Amino acid sequence: MKTVKNPETISKSLKKFKLKGKSIGFVPTMGALHAGHLSLIREAAKENKIIVVSIFVNPTQFGPQEDLKSYPRPIKKDLLLCQKEGVEYVFLPQVKDIYPRGFSTYVNVEGLSDLLCGKARPGHFRGVATVVTKLFNIIQPDTAYFGQKDAQQAMIIQRMAKDLNMPVKIKVIATAREKDGLALSSRNVYLSKNERKDALVLSKALNLAKILIKGGAKDTGRIISRMKQLIISKKSAKINYIAVVDPMNLKPLKKISGDYLIALAVSIGKIRLIDNFQGRLY
Ligand code: PAJ
Repeated sequence: MKTVKNPETISKSLKKFKLKGKSIGFVPTMGALHAGHLSLIREAAKENKIIVVSIFVNPTQFGPQEDLKSYPRPIKKDLLLCQKEGVEYVFLPQVKDIYPRGFSTYVNVEGLSDLLCGKARPGHFRGVATVVTKLFNIIQPDTAYFGQKDAQQAMIIQRMAKDLNMPVKIKVIATAREKDGLALSSRNVYLSKNERKDALVLSKALNLAKILIKGGAKDTGRIISRMKQLIISKKSAKINYIAVVDPMNLKPLKKISGDYLIALAVSIGKIRLIDNFQGRLY
């Protein structure tokens, strides 16, 4: 496994494989790798000859009050995990190489970026879209892998790749969870023992919605209010949003019909967690 810091160096190295017709699968990450990231890497390994993982804590997607400085960076452990998974290249760029002096071009996926998580995190998806564009240009992957855990992010990347004719296929992989249902996240390490217990309320609220819908509930207002009741029963939980939306455009749905996405963001103590469920009612 090779680790490369310099963008030009990795572009050059990967070109050789492209010329030989070897497909490149790419998994962009911010590190602190867990089984969710590994499921993306494994999917990429199934479908490609060369696997590239990037680890870059991207400053432009963090708000001024967010956890950029304290974001976990267990780089040695991450590299070991990548090696175990048979990753060929780990791209570890430095901030000064991704955002050199004078950098002034940003990618903004309008509309989609301002809803749900975008409301609480202004500029977040602009930072994500910008860095992913740069990473795509540097790596030039055949296929890039994203997690359903960050459903809005995956949608935005798909929209961006389509709108800008990016020559890359985007694949979205199911959310990996702990045995008890908590969606894996690099931020889960911040949770105290009690908060870890309370954090289960996100997946429980989604399960409750699933049960209600299975039982015939269609009115999204009612479903949301039942989810709310459950979540606020935990003292440490503060709801940021609960939304039932059309997964094509993230617009709120009044009634469940066809494809729907139930997404929520809840702070457990100081830690903001997200989760979602995408379903279809015929
Ligand atoms: P990060 O949070 O490190 O996540 C990297 C990828 O792993 C994303 O596509 C995310 O959706 C996926 N992922 C995270 N938790 C997952 C889980 N429990 N199950 C399945 N996939 C999961 O998302 C980012 O980094 C950044 O915004 C990035 C795209 C790298 C741009 O900076």
